[in-house]
Amino acid sequence: MKIGIVGAGNIGSALARHFRERQHTVLIANSRSPETLSALAHATGAMPVALSDMARGVDLLIIAIPMKSVPLLPKEFLDGLPATSPILDTGNYYPLRDGRIAAIDKGMIESEWVASLLGRPVLKVFNNIVADSLLRKGLPRGSKHRIALPISGDDATAKRRVIALIDEIGFDALDAGPLAESWRQQPGTPAYCPDPTLSQLPGLLQRAQRDKSPANRDRAAQLMAKLPADFPPQNLVRLSRLSAGMDLWKPQSWRAVLSLGFALLRS
Ligand SMILES: NC(=O)c1ccc[n+]([C@@H]2O[C@H](COP(=O)([O-])OP(=O)(O)OC[C@H]3O[C@@H](n4cnc5c(N)ncnc54)[C@H](OP(=O)(O)O)[C@@H]3O)[C@@H](O)[C@H]2O)c1
Repeated sequence: MKIGIVGAGNIGSALARHFRERQHTVLIANSRSPETLSALAHATGAMPVALSDMARGVDLLIIAIPMKSVPLLPKEFLDGLPATSPILDTGNYYPLRDGRIAAIDKGMIESEWVASLLGRPVLKVFNNIVADSLLRKGLPRGSKHRIALPISGDDATAKRRVIALIDEIGFDALDAGPLAESWRQQPGTPAYCPDPTLSQLPGLLQRAQRDKSPANRDRAAQLMAKLPADFPPQNLVRLSRLSAGMDLWKPQSWRAVLSLGFALLRS
């Protein structure tokens, strides 16, 4: 496939690595010039391009930038994207990072807001796995602890194609229904970042409480803002699992709580 990735940070670069390892062609852009991505290009074989050259003729386009940056994408940047090419939204809304987005604060689903700005349907996926897990924890199909990712959207054919691609890079995928249901995988829900298996994921999505998730999200964001940059990402996964009611009796869960406590004391 020829895959375009807008955003070359944690998520965009992890996806670029995976797709290049499977011999896909990857075009990648950031907010600056292609030259600023030469190290990533060298390491992965992804091809840095200007945003204006990204979408033409790609089979799949991935938006992996902060929510606050979506309105800054130039209007004409989707010109030339084939109508059959799915657009994946990996984004999450964090008011602490993105500022207030009134429509989402009033209850609009995050990826519906993105779709409304782009003027094209999107699928929501890769938003609820921490970049470290996405980069390092892929496993062969059938592995006992293989992580499952939800994918929400209204185009069943597009979802099937993306589910096959997710499988290729080492993860199970669950069709989590239409985009209107994608609030179940937004920040502040039980399915947000606990690295669940395919058998665990449906129950987590089911237990999401739409009215409670914004407050949960903001509490978590305030805590995370106090953590040092080197706080281990897998401890964040353990804390997500614990708050989703998983691994209550595992020592590593409580070690993660202790490490959170120490990190907060130091901050
Ligand atoms: N980090 C995670 O673990 C994680 C997990 C799941 C989902 N997400 C979500 O995925 C999205 C990306 O997260 P991230 O952690 O990968 O972000 P990040 O590391 O901060 O990287 C953001 C990337 O977006 C680019 N960008 C920003 N504004 C742009 C614009 N107007 N046009 C083109 N490129 C632009 C930046 O380019 P410059 O360097 O040029 O600014 C940078 O390459 C966020 O919504 C985040 O919430 C993150």
